[in-house]
Amino acid sequence: MQDREKKPLVIALDGPAASGKGTLAQLIAKQYGFAHLDTGALYRGVAAVILEAGGDPNNAEKAAVFARDFSIDQIENLNIRTKEVGAAASIVAANSEVRAALLDFQRRFAAAPPGGAKGAVLDGRDIGTVVCPDATVKFFVTASPEARAGRRWRELKVANPDLEETAVYKDLLERDARDAARADAPMVAADDAELLDTTHLSIDAAFAAARRVIDGVFRRCG
Ligand code: CDP
Repeated sequence: MQDREKKPLVIALDGPAASGKGTLAQLIAKQYGFAHLDTGALYRGVAAVILEAGGDPNNAEKAAVFARDFSIDQIENLNIRTKEVGAAASIVAANSEVRAALLDFQRRFAAAPPGGAKGAVLDGRDIGTVVCPDATVKFFVTASPEARAGRRWRELKVANPDLEETAVYKDLLERDARDAARADAPMVAADDAELLDTTHLSIDAAFAAARRVIDGVFRRCG
């Protein structure tokens, strides 16, 4: 028990695209003074490097080489928040060798959060199931596809005013299907995850609901 208490606290947030997990993860990290890792940014980073090099995300062998050479420091020089990079990220994320190349970094982040933080918040698709199955608190954050497409469209159209909401909706459904159907680490709620549907929740309300769960678990852990 004593040993367990010394381990950093880990909060896992999984869920589909634009469900609100990234925003929630940032707010939770700030609230509790934890380090935050957006694990989707790693897959997006690998995809962006491949696209920038004129490569094909479907080329499994080459994608694995890019993933093994990838460092999180590269992200700041890449434009990872485009629709094209999102789609390519979900293709490389179905590649087991790419996942294996990125796993160790995520686990080390959770086991020894940077800056000496006493805990870590990781958001992604497989945090509660594969990366950190022993996480202190797990959430599976969802929202209706329509709500999620609307949110993502409003984000993306700032840089791309001609973008149609229907194109974003179609892209999101394709990505959800690919992420949920892949053999390795599919997007699925962990059995012990708290489900949080943000379809009709403001960010403040979703954050308040998450805090209630986290505070309850922390009280029980002492
Ligand atoms: O921000 P959004 O929810 O659109 O996606 P993201 O979290 O940036 O992730 C981009 C893609 O990376 C996803 O569609 C997944 O295919 C993949 N991913 C994954 O497979 N496992 C993770 N832990 C995180 C992301």
